[in-house]
Amino acid sequence: MPGLTATADLSRVEAPVTVKAYLMCAFAAFGGIFFGYDSGYINGVLGMDYIIHTYTGLPYSESSNKDVWTLPSWQKSLIVSILSAGTFFGAIIAGDLADLFGRRTTIILGCFVFIIGVILQTASHSFGLLVAGRLVAGFGVGFVSAVIILYMSEIAPRKVRGALVSSYQFCITIGLLLASCVDYGTQNRRDTGSYRIPIALQMLWALILAIGLFLLPESPRYFVKRGQLDKATGVLARLRGQPHDSELVANELSEIVANHEYEMTVIPQGGYISSWMNCFRGSLRNPSSNLRRTILGTSLQMMQQWTGVNFVFYFGTTFFQTLGTISNPFLISLVTTLVNVCSTPISFYTIERFGRRPLLIWGAAGMVICQFIVAIIGVTDGDNPAAVRAMIAFICFYIFFFASTWGPGAWVVIGEIFPLPIRSRGVGLSTASNWLWNCIIAVITPYMVGPDKGNLGAKVFFIWGSLCAVCCLYAYFLIPETKGLTLEQVDRMMEESTPRTSAKWKPTTTFAAAMGIEDGHLKQDIIQDVERKGSVH
Ligand code: BGC
Repeated sequence: MPGLTATADLSRVEAPVTVKAYLMCAFAAFGGIFFGYDSGYINGVLGMDYIIHTYTGLPYSESSNKDVWTLPSWQKSLIVSILSAGTFFGAIIAGDLADLFGRRTTIILGCFVFIIGVILQTASHSFGLLVAGRLVAGFGVGFVSAVIILYMSEIAPRKVRGALVSSYQFCITIGLLLASCVDYGTQNRRDTGSYRIPIALQMLWALILAIGLFLLPESPRYFVKRGQLDKATGVLARLRGQPHDSELVANELSEIVANHEYEMTVIPQGGYISSWMNCFRGSLRNPSSNLRRTILGTSLQMMQQWTGVNFVFYFGTTFFQTLGTISNPFLISLVTTLVNVCSTPISFYTIERFGRRPLLIWGAAGMVICQFIVAIIGVTDGDNPAAVRAMIAFICFYIFFFASTWGPGAWVVIGEIFPLPIRSRGVGLSTASNWLWNCIIAVITPYMVGPDKGNLGAKVFFIWGSLCAVCCLYAYFLIPETKGLTLEQVDRMMEESTPRTSAKWKPTTTFAAAMGIEDGHLKQDIIQDVERKGSVH
């Protein structure tokens, strides 16, 4: 096989991207529907007459005082945030399960845990069971949301990895949209169908994902980690549409193996606690240390939440109501959700064409401008109907910038920056950080904008705008460019460059070449070593 050891240009020796590869990843992305639907449906359900009537004993709304016509704040807050508690812990545990049982199996397990949670919620006729069901379902969503990113990043061909992982974000946006539509359709029912239909429908997403995943292959990197090289070869051949004994497959596998062997020599081995500690080892000053990567992944997801996007999705309707001149706030919320869905696919192209770094830097800059415009109009001319229309337009532009950059970008990058020995936990921790900040923001925002609390109104956009300015600097100084590289090359790039020089970095050698592996031919001693290490995990 010409080339592999003489040059690190893998494009000359890799399998072409097949339609099958696209379809497999596109299917896995379906897990995003869970994420979006589950975070989206509850707001509508909590405002439904029937739920309020059942939980509080209040009569139906037309005969009651609208001021008291709501669930008590503590109940609302508990029902909304308990899901994030479940997802937070679910995402952390998921990393371990994904290394133990496999990525695919953990996602399937997550679907079943989720279904149990949904059954409890659907059966509930009281507050307690609804909360318990949300907690259990949260675990399932945590498993699915963390491991899907890991799985997709590991099976996708490098040239389209960014685009394929972005399709996960696209599914999140569709999930949010579906949730608003279903809530809208059932909100006026005066029977248990009002909340049971939106809740029970989620089982369908879980069943489709679980059944579909039975048919998809496991990640080859999982088999390498477990020392099962035959199985790794088999699934790689399936994924790349090549025969079992293809040299292209042998080359790709040898690079994954060599990279894993290399990482195992630099990462201390030990028991369970020590292997967790590996996520936090190394110096903060070194851009390739595990500590730095873990902080990068978790902080990137934190920054994604700091863009303030969920202010619009969770509290948009209430905010639009405060802009007195709007007759149908629900419709405006629906428009922002639609802008979110329609703008995300732009990233399928731009994330591969321009790269992750420019998208995150310029996306944040775009959001800063839009948010400051909204805030300035709000404080200067907030009662004028034309000014309110302009504010809504700029909120839509802001969502456009989020959906086409930070929405998908944050997920793509966390799937790429971790080396195999800590990848599943790193992605799990980063996903947990997303849910944690999602929850923190959901809890504190009402205090910032509530008329009886901070009453910031449109001024809240000064806060989101300033945080987006921090996001812009953060991306400029800390995010490396991972476009077009294999996950193993990303590992090397992070060792040999800094975030600001990363875009110019070119691979000059491969891990396989450095280990003396020629033409993808793994020597017996390496095979035995990998199998031995895998079997002791
Ligand atoms: C974020 C969610 C957000 C959604 C909106 C996701 O990437 O993590 O918190 O609600 O995008 O599309």
